Amino acid sequence: MFSLPGLPGFRKGVLLVHLVTGAAGFIGSSLTDRLLAEGERVIGVDCFRDYYSPSVKRANLSGALGNASFTLLELDLSTDSLSRLSDSVGREDLVVYHLAAQAGVRRSWGESFEVYTRDNVTATQRLLEWARSAEGLSSFVYASSSSVYGNTAELPMREDASVPRPFSPYGVTKLAGESLVRLYSGNYGLPSVSLRFFTVYGPRQRPDMAFHRFISAALGGDPIEIYGNGSQTRDFTYVDDVIDAVLAARAVTGGEVLNVGGGNRVSLSEAVGVLADLMGSRAEVRQMPVQKGDVRDTLASTELIERATGWKPSTDLRKGLAAELDWLSGASEA
Ligand SMILES: NC(=O)c1ccc[n+]([C@@H]2O[C@H](COP(=O)([O-])OP(=O)(O)OC[C@H]3O[C@@H](n4cnc5c(N)ncnc54)[C@H](O)[C@@H]3O)[C@@H](O)[C@H]2O)c1
Repeated sequence: MFSLPGLPGFRKGVLLVHLVTGAAGFIGSSLTDRLLAEGERVIGVDCFRDYYSPSVKRANLSGALGNASFTLLELDLSTDSLSRLSDSVGREDLVVYHLAAQAGVRRSWGESFEVYTRDNVTATQRLLEWARSAEGLSSFVYASSSSVYGNTAELPMREDASVPRPFSPYGVTKLAGESLVRLYSGNYGLPSVSLRFFTVYGPRQRPDMAFHRFISAALGGDPIEIYGNGSQTRDFTYVDDVIDAVLAARAVTGGEVLNVGGGNRVSLSEAVGVLADLMGSRAEVRQMPVQKGDVRDTLASTELIERATGWKPSTDLRKGLAAELDWLSGASEA
């Protein structure tokens, strides 16, 4: 496991609490479990949106809920009073990891855009308003996305060179969230960092995401449906590497924006090949129409985050896919 730098700004003798929003989701629950395994105290916030089954989200938190160091606050950051956050945190030192969002590119068109602005923009602004006056805030980590870059031919995507031009309504709302974080840093000195995650995969991956759909189809003997001809590429990032990056980046608090990419850039067809190899069988692949908002390629430059924190991804695609396959095989037997 990646070894972590010390955290700045903590008051000696004052307890530390970690506030994870979106704690029941794919990445949020993985982060929560890691913090608890390290003996930390975690307050998880989630409102269990039904974008995918809330029962899957409850299952994600099943370990955490049995841990005395974990408190779950079921609240909607976009509408509910955030005074419950203050009551739970008390006067302890605090790190905020803001992962709650309406994820997914494809459903962000049409009337559901309102859901994206509510959960990605309004919720972020309300949390920032709360955080700017929270006593003892040491670090505010925002989960941004490679979707802010859009359909650029400039690869690798660099935080300091590529002009963000989102290609989907989802990307627009994630960029708006990132801008809000930056302006609260600039105006109020909020200690923050925004991390642009590149296609995260591994155990608990959301059911709408490609690998989850591919593996579920193959396990069920159904054809694997690929949007487009499968030549589009993604920089796939294993979830444990993402958690390492999040923990390392807490020490970077000057409003920086950093890519978190896995260094596993392959086409979707190549990824299906790796999967077939792992499963020892080749599923039928069916081409589906290209989806609006899907970009052609992604590839992260990780130079800045490496320089700022020493973090580097360490999980290769085969190993990471095997872990997701194991997890989904267990789920399909249960
Ligand atoms: N998974 C990826 O590949 C990826 C890539 C780039 C960025 N991200 C970002 O990482 C974060 C986590 O993504 P994920 O894949 O774990 O998604 P997820 O859908 O599994 O988790 C998000 C959680 O946020 C909760 N939530 C949504 N709106 C809320 C609100 N108003 N109040 C309280 N809770 C709310 C949902 O119920 C859900 O459990 C998101 O911010 C997403 O935009 C993810």
